[in-house]
Amino acid sequence: MKRKLMTLAICLFTSTTLMHAQSFLSQNHAIKRVMTTDKYILLPVEEDENNAHIRVIKDNQVVKEFNCKLAINKTDYCVPLDISEYGGDVLLDIQFTGDKRNVGLINDFACWKDIKVTNVFDTKNREKFRPIYHHTPVYGWMNDPNGMFYKDGVWHLYYQYNPYGSQWENMTWAHSTSTDLMHWENQGEAIQPDALGTIFSGSSVIDKENSTGFGKDAVVAFYTSAGAAQTQSIAYSTDNGITFKKYANNPIITSDVPDFRDPNVFWNDDVKQWNLILAAGQQMNIYSSKNLKDWKYESSFGEGYGNHGGVWECPDLLKMGDKWVLICNINPGGPFGGSATQYFVGTFDGHKFTCESKPETTKWMDYGKDHYATVTFDNAPDNRRVAIAWMSNWQYANQVPTMQYRSANSVPRDLGLFTDAGETYVSVVPSKELLALRGDKTNRLSAACELVVDIKSQSKPTVITLSNARDEQVVMTYNPKDCTFSMDRTQSGNTGFSDMFKAKTIAPTHGTIRQLRVFIDKCSIEAFDAAGKMAMTNLVFPTEPYGRLTVNGAAKTTLYELK
Ligand code: FRU
Repeated sequence: MKRKLMTLAICLFTSTTLMHAQSFLSQNHAIKRVMTTDKYILLPVEEDENNAHIRVIKDNQVVKEFNCKLAINKTDYCVPLDISEYGGDVLLDIQFTGDKRNVGLINDFACWKDIKVTNVFDTKNREKFRPIYHHTPVYGWMNDPNGMFYKDGVWHLYYQYNPYGSQWENMTWAHSTSTDLMHWENQGEAIQPDALGTIFSGSSVIDKENSTGFGKDAVVAFYTSAGAAQTQSIAYSTDNGITFKKYANNPIITSDVPDFRDPNVFWNDDVKQWNLILAAGQQMNIYSSKNLKDWKYESSFGEGYGNHGGVWECPDLLKMGDKWVLICNINPGGPFGGSATQYFVGTFDGHKFTCESKPETTKWMDYGKDHYATVTFDNAPDNRRVAIAWMSNWQYANQVPTMQYRSANSVPRDLGLFTDAGETYVSVVPSKELLALRGDKTNRLSAACELVVDIKSQSKPTVITLSNARDEQVVMTYNPKDCTFSMDRTQSGNTGFSDMFKAKTIAPTHGTIRQLRVFIDKCSIEAFDAAGKMAMTNLVFPTEPYGRLTVNGAAKTTLYELK
């Protein structure tokens, strides 16, 4: 009893909250003062609703503003707004936007009873589709990987992030780190929106020679400031990418092209200068610089080349051997609809990229539906080209059946080159770090495992079927005759959240496949030719995990638990 009283007393003294009733200023506008010693205000979200625009006001100044789908009828989940840095005393100015807000009286909106304060925000991984070994945000929405680099034994992954809901909005760079490329630690938000706009995709480099004057080995991040127009900006970090300071003279590159974004920067050792490539409409612009701040336009690539079924986005330009590869993510226009990663192989002299293939040639890096915004790590060890993709598709990314978080990244993949019939292609293999996840061999298919299929005969197709007791199934077929690999997810489980989800994807195998490696993780399947000539990434949402495996054909199958 005494202990209970003590605890109560401690609670009373350590946590005090004065949550003023909201004042309604119109049917679309309210203000609410919150004074608390707790760290967070919990904002209730209803995903089918329109956004409310929330301004956080401290001492009569706006200190933060963002959009959030505040609950009108019912709360789907809550997102935390950290107010500790404002002394726990803020005024929220809330403007409801959109038609739906005219239905019902503002006084009756569900959010008023569900706005709460708390000291701890629970991010335990309980959702049934949350992957075991893929990177996800701990809560909130994620899209493209951004600004990835390796330094002093640590892999850094930033990503497009919405802290105030599990759908796309309020673009911010969030940050995760890993020492083994597989287990990620959440480092929170690294670069937040400002007066120039929200923070769209980009890249980072390590400024080893201090060419910027920001400091030797400073991490310099390049991103698109997405305001009324899209411009390019810099932020830099002198604490290994944990905190960033924005460059005072942003923006550094401007244009009147509306889709002008996703700067990717690298040190070009061939010509001893920095290069930057960014997407400008349906082409890629290339720039050069000595100091990372002042950029000279060099040339554009793309007109008449490859696929132009959508907007070109998120480029990367890498030297591999004596060739250069220009990665060009495109949305829509992918081989099975929506988002995909195409690339071009050629030469680059620091000024101009020249594609060595015929203009009409289109090369895809991955033949699934859920492989987008692929870029590589800067400064990876041993000259490796390690790529990570966002494992989703803009056709339905905002609707996939998860709740407290949305989206995962692909497993890391090492890129290389191979040739087939006189053309050079990018090879894709799962990074070697994935081997360390292998647990015991097992004969049971589980929700997180690796399936290795050694093909013993090339005379008949090999058909791999994953299924469950509800007759949900995914069928993968390697057909050596026509040199194709396909994955059919039309009966894979929950497909009803979008008309565009059901699909059978099919890839050329560029010759025979001797070994297939298939990575399954709750809601994703990534299939690789172990020799790197075929990769296919698809999401699946089985209502219960696939527990049954059948492999038809002359093949030896090994299953590993992955941890
Ligand atoms: C690609 C993309 C980028 C943009 C970002 C915004 O998925 O559209 O072009 O920078 O997402 O979140």
